[in-house]
Amino acid sequence: MASSFLLSNRSPFAVFFFFSLFLVGTTSFHGVVASASSTSLFAIDATENKDEAEALLHWKSTLANRSQSLLSSWHGHNPCRFTGVACNDHGAISHLSLSSLGLGGTLDGLDFSRLTNVVSFDLSNNSIHGSIPSSIGNLSKLNFLDLCFNKLSGNIPPSIGTQETLHSLYLCANQLSGPIPPSLGNLCNLTELGLSRNKLSGPIPREISDLSNLKSLFLWENELSGSIPSEFGRLNSLIRLDLSENNITGPIPSEIGNLTNLTLLNLANNKFFGSLPYEFNKITRLTTLHLYNNELEGELPKDVCLGGSLQYFTANNNQFTGPIPTSLENCSTLIRLRLDGNQLTGNITEAFGIYPHSDFIDLSSNRLNGELSWKWKHCRNLTSLRISNNDISGEIPSIFGRMAQLQLLNLSSNNLSGEIPRELGRLSMLFELDLSNNSIMGNVPTEIGLLSHLAHLNLASNNLRGSIPGQLGSCKSLLSLNLSINKFRRSIPLEIGNTQVLEVLDLSCNILSENIPGELAKLRNLQVLNISHNSLSGSIPQSFGDMSALTSIDISYNDLEGPLPNVKAFNEAPFEAIQHNKGLCGNVVGLSKCNSTGSKKPNRHVGAKITIILILSFLGFLLLSCTFIVLIIVYNRRRRIIKREDNEGATDLDFRRILGYDGKVFYDRIVEATEGFDSKYYVGEGAYGIVYKAEISEGQTFAVKQTRSSREGTEIADLVPFEREIQALSNIRHRNIVKFYGFCSHAQRCFLVYEYLERGSLRTTLNDDQRSIEFGWDKRINVVRGVADALSYMHRECCPPLIHRDLTSNNILLDRDYEAHVSDFGTARLLRPDSSNWTTIAGTIGYIAPELAYSSVPTEKCDVYSFGVIALETIMGKHPGDYVSRECSSSAQTKLMMLKDVLDQRLSPSRLGLRDAQDVVLIAKLAFECLQANPRLRPTMGQVSRELRIQVPLDMPLSAVSLEQLSDPNLKKFGAFQVMLRFEVFMCYCV
Ligand SMILES: *[C@@H]1O[C@H](CO)[C@@H](O)[C@H](O)[C@H]1NC(C)=O
Ligand SMILES: *[C@@H]1O[C@H](CO)[C@@H](O)[C@H](O)[C@H]1NC(C)=O
Repeated sequence: MASSFLLSNRSPFAVFFFFSLFLVGTTSFHGVVASASSTSLFAIDATENKDEAEALLHWKSTLANRSQSLLSSWHGHNPCRFTGVACNDHGAISHLSLSSLGLGGTLDGLDFSRLTNVVSFDLSNNSIHGSIPSSIGNLSKLNFLDLCFNKLSGNIPPSIGTQETLHSLYLCANQLSGPIPPSLGNLCNLTELGLSRNKLSGPIPREISDLSNLKSLFLWENELSGSIPSEFGRLNSLIRLDLSENNITGPIPSEIGNLTNLTLLNLANNKFFGSLPYEFNKITRLTTLHLYNNELEGELPKDVCLGGSLQYFTANNNQFTGPIPTSLENCSTLIRLRLDGNQLTGNITEAFGIYPHSDFIDLSSNRLNGELSWKWKHCRNLTSLRISNNDISGEIPSIFGRMAQLQLLNLSSNNLSGEIPRELGRLSMLFELDLSNNSIMGNVPTEIGLLSHLAHLNLASNNLRGSIPGQLGSCKSLLSLNLSINKFRRSIPLEIGNTQVLEVLDLSCNILSENIPGELAKLRNLQVLNISHNSLSGSIPQSFGDMSALTSIDISYNDLEGPLPNVKAFNEAPFEAIQHNKGLCGNVVGLSKCNSTGSKKPNRHVGAKITIILILSFLGFLLLSCTFIVLIIVYNRRRRIIKREDNEGATDLDFRRILGYDGKVFYDRIVEATEGFDSKYYVGEGAYGIVYKAEISEGQTFAVKQTRSSREGTEIADLVPFEREIQALSNIRHRNIVKFYGFCSHAQRCFLVYEYLERGSLRTTLNDDQRSIEFGWDKRINVVRGVADALSYMHRECCPPLIHRDLTSNNILLDRDYEAHVSDFGTARLLRPDSSNWTTIAGTIGYIAPELAYSSVPTEKCDVYSFGVIALETIMGKHPGDYVSRECSSSAQTKLMMLKDVLDQRLSPSRLGLRDAQDVVLIAKLAFECLQANPRLRPTMGQVSRELRIQVPLDMPLSAVSLEQLSDPNLKKFGAFQVMLRFEVFMCYCV
C-alpha cells in the first residue's frame, strides 16, 4: 500500500515537474513500487493489547480535531481492530498503514517504545509536521518506513540508522534539512532509500557506499553539494540512481563503471564537469540516462544503447563534443532524445537510425552536418523534432509528410535548400513549423493551408518567392506568422484577414507591392505588425483604426502615403517605424500634420525628378543617351545579381566548411603561410588589428587580420549569436564589398580572414604622390560610385539594413583595377557585440557623424555622413578635415572657396575633361548633402548611388560644368554656387 501510494502520487508530480523542460521516464519510478508490502492486513483478533492501544489512543488525542474524527474506529483496548492497524500472530501491532488519511499533527505524542513489534509503518501523504522524533529508533523490528509527502522538518535523526532490519526507507517530499546522517550506512539490509525533495544539504556521506544491497537511491531535489564519493563503485546492486537537481559538482568518478546493473541514472541539473570516464561505457543496461544541465564535456558514451533498452536519453545543455554515440544508430527502443545545446559534430545522415517509438527528438544547437534521411519516416510516433541551428544541408525529404503525429518541426538556422515539400500539408497535427534561416527556395505550397492546428509558422530568412498563398487564411489556429526576409512579391493576400486569432504578423523585407488590404483589419487580436521594407503603396486602410490590440507596428521603408490610422500603436509609433515612406502624415513626431484638404507636399526628391524630366525633354538627344546608360546599368545589375547567385554554391561553401568545422586545420595553414605572422607578410594596420598576406595555396591568397582584442573570457556564452553573425557576414556578396571568409579563434591568436586586395587602402593610395597621380579622376569617380553602391546595398538590399559604423578611407581597399571594396563591414559588432557606447570603440575621429556625440545609436545616416567625408577626401586627395580645421581656426568668418582650388592639385584640376568635371561637381554636391548636420536631411545611400549612376548633374545645365567657369562668381544662378555655399557651411560647422 505504501508503495502504491508512491506510484500514484509521485509519478504524476514528477511528470508535472519535468513536463515542460525535460524528459522523464515515468516508467522508471514504477520499480519503486514493485516491492509492495505484501503482508496481510487482516488482524488476528487476539488477546487485548492494552498497552499498544493506549499508545495509539494517546497519539490520536494529540492530533488535530479533524484527524481525531477520521480515526473514529480507534477506541477500546484492541488495537487490532483500529483502522489501518494490523497485528501479528501474537496479537502485537505489526503494521501501521495510515497513508493518505488526511491526518494533521506531529509525531511527538507517539510513544514508539511501546510499539516495538511494528515491522511496517506507512504514514505517507498526510499533513504531519514537526520533526521526526529520535525515539523512532525504538522500532527495532522495522523493515519498512514511509513518511513521504508530509510537512516534516528538522534533521533526519541518526537513530534511524540503528534499525538494521530496515529494507525500505522513504522520507521524500518533506522539509527535512541538514546533512544525511552517516549512520544510514549501517542499514545493511536497505534496498530502497528515498530522500528526494527535501532541503538536505552537505555532501553525500561516503558511508552510503556501505549499503551493498541498495537497489534504489533517490536523493533528487535537495541542496546536496560535494562530489560523488568514489566509493559509490561499491554499490554494485544499484539499479536506480537519481541525484538530479542538487549542487553536486566535480567529475563523475570512473568507479561509476562498476554500477553495471543501472537501468536509471539521473545526474541532471547539477554542476558536474569534466569528461565522462571511459568506464561509463560499461553501463549498458540503461533505460534512462539524464545528464542535462551540467558542465560536462568530452564525448558522449558511445555504448549507451549497447544493451538495447535505452528509452530516455538527455544530455542537453552541456559542452559535449565529438560524434553522436554509435550505439544510437540501432537504438530502436528510443523514446526521447535530447542532445541539444552541445557542440556535437558529425554527419546525422549516418548517425541516426530508425526509431519507431520515438516521441521527442531535439538535436538543436550543435554542429551536426549531413542531410535529412528517408529513415525519419519510420518515426511514426514522433511528436517533436528539432534540429535547428546546425549545419544540415540538402532538401527537406517529402517523406517528412509521413510523420503523422508530428506537432512540432523546427529545422531553422541550417543550410537547407530545395523547396518546401507539399507533403508537409499532410501533417494534420502540426502546431509549430519553423524553417527560418535556411536557403529554401520556390513558392510556399498551398497545402500549408491544410494545417488547421498550425499556430506558429516561421519561414523567415529564406529565398522563398512568388506570392504569399491566400490559403494561409485557412490556418485558423495561426497565432504567429513570420515570412520576413524573403522575396515574396505581389500584394498581401486579403485572406490573411481570416486567420482571426493571429497575434504576430511579420512580412518585413520582401518585395510586396500594391495597397495594404483592408481585410487585415479583421485581425482584432493582432499585437505586432511588421510590414516594413516592402514596396507597399497607397494609404493605410482607415479600418486599421479598429485594431485596438496592436502594440507594435513597423511600416517603414515602403511607398505609403496619407494619414496614419487613429489607433494607439500608430499614434505612439517611434519615427523609425514609419520613416521612409512616400507621404505619410499624422501626429507622430517627425511627420507633417495631415491637412484637411488632403493635398500632399511634393517632397524634395519628387521635385528633383521633375527637374530631371524637364532638362531631359529640353535636350532631346540627351534623353536618348541617358536612357541608354540607365538600361546598361539595369542590365549590369541584373547580370551581377544572377552571377552572384550562381557563385554561391561551390567554392564559398567549401570555405565555410573549412572555417567553421575544420578550424584547426585552417588555423594551422594560416600560421604556416605567414610563417607564424612574420613581419615579411605584413601589409598594413587597421582599426582592428594588423593585416598579413597569407598565400595558402596557389591563387588562394587571403588578408588575415590579427585582432588586437581577443575574445577571451566571456566568450562561450555568446558563441552562438557570434557564429550566426559570422555566417551572415560571410554570406554577403557584392563586387564592392571585401569578401569575409570567417574567423579563427585560438588561445593566443584571434583573426579575421578576408579576400586579399592588391592595392591596399584608399588612404595609402591618396597619401602616395606617385600612386595618386596614377589614380586619375575617372578612377576616383568610380571609387566613389563603388563605395556608394556598396553602402546602398548593405542599407537597402540587406534587410534589415547592415550599418558599417566605421567607414574611413582606411577600410576602403582597391583592387588591381582600382575598383573599391569596402572592408570591415560588421566588424565593429563582431568584435564588441554588446558595447553600448560604440562611438568610442567603432567610430574614427574625422569620419563620425556629429549626432553620435549625443546619441549612441548608429543609423544608416551615420554611414552617409562618413561617405560624405570619404567622397570629398577622394576628390581633394586628402582628408577635408585638415583643410577645414586650418581655415576655421584662422578666420571667424569663412571666405568663399572655389571647388577647383580644393581639388587634388596633383591631378591638375584645370585639365579635367568635361564629363569627369560634371561628375566631380556632382560628387562634391552630394558629399555636402551627406554632411548635413541633421541626419534626416541627408540623402539615403540608395539616392546617392542612383544619382551618381545617372551621370548628369541634376540641377544645372551641361554648359555650366567647366571648372574655370565654376570659379566665376557670376555663376551664382547655377547649382555650382550651391556647392560653394554648402562647403562654407561645412567649414563653419567644423569649428
Ligand atoms: C546496426 O545494425 C546494422 C544492421 O544490423 C549493422 O550493419 C550496423 O553495424 C549496426 N551499427 C552499429 C553501430 O552497431
Ligand atoms: C521589422 O522588421 C525589420 C526587418 O526584419 C526589423 O529590422 C525591425 O526591427 C522590425 N521592427 C520592429 C518594430 O520590430
